[in-house]
Amino acid sequence: MTILDGKKISNMIKDEIKEEVDQMKDRREKVPHLAAVLVGNDGASQTYVNSKVKSCNRVGFESTLIKLENTITELELLRQIDKLNKNKDIDGFIVQLPLPPQINTQKVIMAIDPDKDVDGFHPANFGKMALDMTSFIPATPFGILELLERYDVETKGKHTVVIGRSHIVGRPMSILMGRKGWPGNSTVTQTHSHTKNITQIISQADIVISALGIPNFLKAEMVKDDAVVIDVGITRVPDDTKKKGYRIAGDADFEAVSKKASFITPVPGGVGPMTISMLLKNTLLAREMHLND
Ligand code: GUN
Repeated sequence: MTILDGKKISNMIKDEIKEEVDQMKDRREKVPHLAAVLVGNDGASQTYVNSKVKSCNRVGFESTLIKLENTITELELLRQIDKLNKNKDIDGFIVQLPLPPQINTQKVIMAIDPDKDVDGFHPANFGKMALDMTSFIPATPFGILELLERYDVETKGKHTVVIGRSHIVGRPMSILMGRKGWPGNSTVTQTHSHTKNITQIISQADIVISALGIPNFLKAEMVKDDAVVIDVGITRVPDDTKKKGYRIAGDADFEAVSKKASFITPVPGGVGPMTISMLLKNTLLAREMHLND
C-alpha cells in the first residue's frame, strides 16, 4: 500500500511555483496576485481562506483578502466582484463558499470574469472542462488528478466510482476521470444520495473517490482488494483531546481500508493540502493569460 502524500506533493508544487516567481522577480516582472472574498465568520471558511493567503506569501504571490459582513446584500457583493473583475492588478480571485442564505450563489459565480475564475466554478470554465478545452479546473479535483499523476497511478480502463455530486468536487471529478488522456480514460459511475445498492457499486470500483462528508462511511468490507482510495472528506469531529476541540475526519476508516488499498490518501494530509497548491497553480496560469492584456 502506498500513501498518496498530499502534504509532501503540495510542498513540492509550492517550491516549484516559488522558483518560477523568484525568476519573475529577478526579471522585474509582475508577480501573480490572488484575491479572496470571505463573507461572514464561518470557522472552516476562515481557516481555508487564511491558509490560501498564507500560501500566497510562501510562494511570493501578492494576495488581497476582502472580508465582508455576513449581512451583506447580494447587490453589494456583486459590486465588490465587479471591482475585482476590473482591477487589472488582480490575476484571479475566489469567493469562498458557502455564502449566507440571502445571496444567490449561482448569480455570484456567474458574475465572476471567467478569465479570473481561478476556482473554475463559472459555467464557461465548467463547460470548457467538460468539452476537453483548456480552462481553469476546480482546485480539489485538479489536486486529485495531480496526485494520481505524480504517483503514476493507472486510470485507463479502470472503473472509477465517485461518491457525491457536489459542484465543487463530485460532479467535476466524475467528468475529469472520464475525459480522454491521463489521468482519465476511466469508466465512471457517479453516485449520490438516491443511488440504490451503493455498497455493491463501490465494491466493483478500481478507484473510489469519496466526497461525502460522513466520517467512517467507507469501510474495508466495501472496497475491493488493491483499490485506489481517494478520501475527500474533511469533517470536523468534536475531540476534547485536541487543542482546537475538534479533529478532522475523512470519509474512510483509514486504519482498516488502508490494509486493503493499493493507494490511499490520508486525512488530514491528503487531498486537502493539494487544493491550495492547485489554486496557486491556477493563479499562475491566470497571470500568464493576462500578461498581454
Ligand atoms: N468551499 C469549499 N471548497 C471551496 C473551494 O475550493 N473554493 C471556494 N471558493 N469555496 C470553497
